[in-house]
Amino acid sequence: MRHSYRLVCIAMAIALSLTLSCSKEEGRVTLMIGGAPAELDYWETLLEDFTENTGIEVGLMRQPTDTDQRRQSLIIPLEAGEGDPDVFLMDIVWIGQFAASGWLEGLEPMMAVDNFETSPFFSRVIDLADTYEGRLIALPVYVDAGLLYYRADLLIEYGFTSPPATWADLVKISVQIQAAQRMTNPDFWGFVWQGAQYEGLVCTFLEFSTAGGGGLVDDSGALTLDRPENIAALNFMRDLIATFGISRPNTYTEMKEEEVRSTFQSGNALFGRNWPYAWGLHQEDGSAVKGLVGISLLPAFSGGEHAATLGGWHIGISRSSDNKEAAWQLVKYIVSRDVQLGFALNLGWNPARQDIYNAPEIVEHVPHLVQLRDIFDSAVARPNVPYYSLLSRELQQRVNAALAGTATPAEALKTAQREGIDIVDRYRQ
Ligand code: GLC
Repeated sequence: MRHSYRLVCIAMAIALSLTLSCSKEEGRVTLMIGGAPAELDYWETLLEDFTENTGIEVGLMRQPTDTDQRRQSLIIPLEAGEGDPDVFLMDIVWIGQFAASGWLEGLEPMMAVDNFETSPFFSRVIDLADTYEGRLIALPVYVDAGLLYYRADLLIEYGFTSPPATWADLVKISVQIQAAQRMTNPDFWGFVWQGAQYEGLVCTFLEFSTAGGGGLVDDSGALTLDRPENIAALNFMRDLIATFGISRPNTYTEMKEEEVRSTFQSGNALFGRNWPYAWGLHQEDGSAVKGLVGISLLPAFSGGEHAATLGGWHIGISRSSDNKEAAWQLVKYIVSRDVQLGFALNLGWNPARQDIYNAPEIVEHVPHLVQLRDIFDSAVARPNVPYYSLLSRELQQRVNAALAGTATPAEALKTAQREGIDIVDRYRQ
């Protein structure tokens, strides 16, 4: 297919004595994307491959790793109706707002032309995140769920046969191994996790609160931030730092995904909460923990359930793009089976396509992905509402204040609930 396309191009170019520019799909598109440096390098090589195969040049607009900063740098051009970026990645929690603002091009007309099917993708994710008022406005690139990373070698060394199933066990094991490790490494921590004031903190809070039987909303979708289970969960999060001393004090000032990953990767933590992406980087040459890491479900509270927040990144086309046909070619390429397989094998990302989990390469090289597959069906979603970023900002601020000890968990969540209700009411007026 690719070859015949190229041959036609070459034949036409010769016939018309033109340089190779035979299709309106050719041209240039811009892609805005962030991530860890190694991930961005991988994207560069992918885009070169895409250009080689299609003749479409792609300008990469690099963003940082932090989701909130990525959102900020993206909404400025989108709000202004600029032609660039044509294509971008969106955190699952932005899509409601982007769709309601009319910034996303509907994909169905382009899909119909190409007989593009969504059936290979996780249907729960497509329904929850990519469909707005019955229209498909995005496609999933990879799915995320919060995981527990652990130092398998250290657990064995200290006589533990499996990772902790409960939070109480995690604390107990951490206290013991941290004390022992500190004899030779004073900077060793039992458990590192995302506690800085940003979106990642909402994800960790949602995990602790859900594991404790709480959650952000009740079954009817009404906000329930200050329910007793949530207060208990936030107390526990604070205790990890202030009482048990197994999480570093800069948890609430600095710890985001990359800080957690680098602390764990440099050999300075026993347990870490992170997304699947950290796996690939932990296994890189030069990583102090290469070959020493295990992955499991985050612990439950005794008698309760395990909980993981549903995360993940989705691709969309700007309504203001001036090259939508080429943009669609790029989107199709990025969600294609081969590219998704490459993401899984090279970056450890969990494919949004279900048809990859049984691929022999996956089973051979990243078997843990097969085990993770089921987590995505039960992972807890954050509310998919257009005003989510406002709610999130409020919650981030209050939960972070409780971690820092400037408000009690009960006060912090009471305020978050009151302010949250105001946001919901304002939006609905
Ligand atoms: C990951 C998740 C995303 C989440 C973010 C929080 O990138 O995929 O959904 O919002 O982390 O930092």
